[in-house]
Amino acid sequence: MKIAFIGDLHYPSMISKDEEVKEARDEFYTKFLQSFFEIKADYYVSIGDLTNFGREDELREVYEIISKYDKPFIHSFGNHDLYGIPREEVINISNMEQNISIENDHVHIISLETARDHNHEDHSGYLSKEQLDWLEHEILRSEDKLIVIFAHHPVYDTTTHSNYPYLSIVPDVPILDILRKKKGTGIYVNGHNHRDSIETMDNWTFVQAGAVLDDQSVRVLDISENDVFIQSIDVGNPELSGLAQIIGSNINHFQLNPQGIGTTPNREYVVKKVLYV
Ligand SMILES: [Fe+2]
Repeated sequence: MKIAFIGDLHYPSMISKDEEVKEARDEFYTKFLQSFFEIKADYYVSIGDLTNFGREDELREVYEIISKYDKPFIHSFGNHDLYGIPREEVINISNMEQNISIENDHVHIISLETARDHNHEDHSGYLSKEQLDWLEHEILRSEDKLIVIFAHHPVYDTTTHSNYPYLSIVPDVPILDILRKKKGTGIYVNGHNHRDSIETMDNWTFVQAGAVLDDQSVRVLDISENDVFIQSIDVGNPELSGLAQIIGSNINHFQLNPQGIGTTPNREYVVKKVLYV
């Protein structure tokens, strides 16, 4: 089975922007999301910052595109998704519950909400005691089955820049202690830092995907019996990256990453499953 996911999308509002930028936005996001949903997968995931400032128009417009494809879509909220309209409204418009699990024979999928609610001073990640208890319960319940966690913020001191202030779940949240209770293979997927990065620690692989305006690729977890192939599928072209440059240089709350995409080992990897006999 396959799970396709995208990094921070930052679909922006176009209040007071000129017509060229608006046209670039409409064309870019329509084409990119079409490429995303054309990839054959069982689930399609956004790891947060789907919108640039959590505005109602951003949320409604991006969901209008997404809903056209009628695919099983999961959205783990990022900090930018919770800067504008109230969280309850974000949930109502997106119809996306947070802190959910989906299980089948191959995988136990978790969508974890790490973003703080309307905190403009602190964009780091946080988990409440209730969330940690719930996560622990899910990890124990998954036994030795593959677990894949989708969340916006990295675990502290795992992927690139996750040891910097605000660029992870804060280190006093003991999520790593809970992850260590996993018996089989775990994959933790996050965005937030706009840098491609893959790191491993014991039975866990941490996968951080860059932002879509920096790199027009779709990530796929291809899950087979013994391995999980982490793939980066480039759906870009010069036209699309030109549009991304126009958008990225003309919106607030977002900056294009001058370092561009990561090296292949930071974008593709084969996870050998821990096998129990
Ligand atoms: Fe972001």
